[in-house]
Amino acid sequence: MMSNDSFFKAMEEHGLALSYDDVQLKSGGTDVMPSEVSLESKFSRNVGLKIPIVSAAMDTVTEYRLAVELAKLGGIGVIHRSLTPEKQAAEVARVKFYLNGRIDKPICLKPDQTVESVLAMKADKGYRFNSFPVLDFEGRVVGVVTNNDFEFCVDNSRKIEEIMSKEITFADAEVKIEEAFKLMLESRKKVLPLLDKNQQLAGLYTLKDLKRIILGEQSSYNLDPKGRLRVAAAVGTGPDSVVRIEELVKKQVDAVVIDTAHADSKNVLEFLKAVKQQYPCLDVVAGNISEPESAQRLCEAGADGIKVGQGPGAICTTRVVAGIGCPQITAVYSCAKVAGHYNIPICADGGIKYSGDIPKALGSGAHSVMLGSLLAGTDESPGERIFKDGRQWKFYRGMGSLGAMMDNRACRERYGQSSPEGETEGRKLVPEGVEGMVPYKGKVEDVIFQYIGGLRSGMGYVGAANIEELREKARFHRVTQAGQREAHPHDIVITKEAPNYTI
Ligand code: XMP
Repeated sequence: MMSNDSFFKAMEEHGLALSYDDVQLKSGGTDVMPSEVSLESKFSRNVGLKIPIVSAAMDTVTEYRLAVELAKLGGIGVIHRSLTPEKQAAEVARVKFYLNGRIDKPICLKPDQTVESVLAMKADKGYRFNSFPVLDFEGRVVGVVTNNDFEFCVDNSRKIEEIMSKEITFADAEVKIEEAFKLMLESRKKVLPLLDKNQQLAGLYTLKDLKRIILGEQSSYNLDPKGRLRVAAAVGTGPDSVVRIEELVKKQVDAVVIDTAHADSKNVLEFLKAVKQQYPCLDVVAGNISEPESAQRLCEAGADGIKVGQGPGAICTTRVVAGIGCPQITAVYSCAKVAGHYNIPICADGGIKYSGDIPKALGSGAHSVMLGSLLAGTDESPGERIFKDGRQWKFYRGMGSLGAMMDNRACRERYGQSSPEGETEGRKLVPEGVEGMVPYKGKVEDVIFQYIGGLRSGMGYVGAANIEELREKARFHRVTQAGQREAHPHDIVITKEAPNYTI
């Protein structure tokens, strides 16, 4: 059978570069059941994935809500950078502190606060938890409130001291997690404040968190070694980038992604080296590129992961505006070949339209795929639903679109169009993306279920029990336009939409 190397070499000899629609995976002899394949992979050198899905660093795709849900499903979200460094770091913190084992610095209430003011504070800060210790003016724990107390309160002008429970079970600050869990079950308390030698609050356990940890309700979650959800964040190379990275590192971000339209440039390579020198333990992913020589330079500059894709995205116009770029399957294959010598994972960024594109991307050498348009229509992406022509939609725009570039310096910088003063007024911009809307798709969980289902099925056909095997065993057919037409439904008027197929 023809290896991928000879297949791509033959294409290259004809000056051909291929994209997802140009190829089909060959089916092979198999004893692999789709339901049993392992989807574990890597986003970067030290950041693992339980499913090879990464969400795009775009302001219509990834903020903390989507990042939390995706990490719970086993992937990772990259928080976009059209936010101040502080706000972006706060988004990262919301993901990192979404699951808590021991909460070291619990949010506390005061006895004389009204329920109304607490609910407003929760909404403002985006807190999704309802368990709070209540401290008096000397810092002593005088009560706890939990979900029940809020639910049974029908008058929100009441004070916290009127609804809180004063029968508190405490534990020593050094209590072991198993002992804490036992104590909570025995005392039937949902909250366990921990006290130090001076009887001051030193931490908190909640029943929900401990159940999840001890009873193992989190096997699908993508967690860091301390049991927190994983999250990455995009950074640029501009003036605020040093502060941005500092803030992100303080919030214990798992990886930063140097997010530029062209990473094979002097300033990105120098910035990458500087960041790695200052933070040797921080994983730094760099992108985007589409040529093997660029992959080589990024590997040598110390990248822990490389993002491949110049112009394949649903909202991208780079290829037609600037005339550059390599069709995505060839780009991924040639960059992965080089990065493989350095053991650096590749993320195939952009252009995924159907679930079948995911096994094609991984089969050509990627370790993960980054999704923008496929996740922009979910409940968890930023922005409201739009009702139009009897259907529901969500707004989706390129980070190089006129709107995004006008709104934010980070977007202008991504496309090398930020003036030193950061002014847009009176300056003309050359967009490399468009603005529009995508169909509303419901919960991210349901969307990912379909994409992962397609990937599992593809691996079953190839006979690959895990992603490493998929990269080794994948072989491609080059398809013609007739083959592409044949691949889609034909000679039928579709009357019912499938959850994983739209035209
Ligand atoms: P999909 O196809 O998943 O692609 O929607 C998402 C990826 O597209 C890139 N991106 C852009 N590329 N102009 C471009 O040429 C843009 O305005 C733009 N905005 C995003 C980005 O890599 C993202 O992950």
